[in-house]
Amino acid sequence: MADESSNPLQRRLPSGIVPEDLVDRTEKRWLFIMLGMLVLIMVIVVLTVIAHAWHPPSNVEPADPVTLHLQGEFVESNLGTALELDGVTVRLICVKVPAGTPVKFRLSSADVVHGFILVDTNVNTMVVPGFVAEVRTSFATPGEYRMPCDEFCGLGHQGMWARVVVVPRDQFPKLTPEQRTDCVSSP
Ligand code: CUA
Repeated sequence: MADESSNPLQRRLPSGIVPEDLVDRTEKRWLFIMLGMLVLIMVIVVLTVIAHAWHPPSNVEPADPVTLHLQGEFVESNLGTALELDGVTVRLICVKVPAGTPVKFRLSSADVVHGFILVDTNVNTMVVPGFVAEVRTSFATPGEYRMPCDEFCGLGHQGMWARVVVVPRDQFPKLTPEQRTDCVSSP
């Protein structure tokens, strides 16, 4: 190489040994590439949180799986979709919700860990026995969303499917509690 002869120290290096300043330059170059990637990833994370409302999928809120369906929030009579001040809260698996309204899902499991994913939305959480998982989303247009269990939970896992039916916003308040959890017949 041309600059090898200009530096008397480098001329004496045995073949295969890389000069120190070249190692230094290469290390610095990769350090800056790595820092650039880190900044890019942080920007992507922040933009995703802001634009798509992605966030860690729960609050650490304990619930007793043994008495889950016998007392408290998740008793049979309290399940379904409820209109609340900040939108709609869902405490069930197959439901209707209004379009263009903030929807809060509160989920718990009485047996094993299940997965709760709503295809084409930001909703994706594990439902762990002993805890309440809370996820928030909003559906822009009426339609039907598939809700497969995406966590292997045992025999029957492959059949653990449900649906969320999104109805027009003005139609939802007219539905009875029974109609809100009935995804077979139309409202
Ligand atoms: Cu429930 Cu897989």
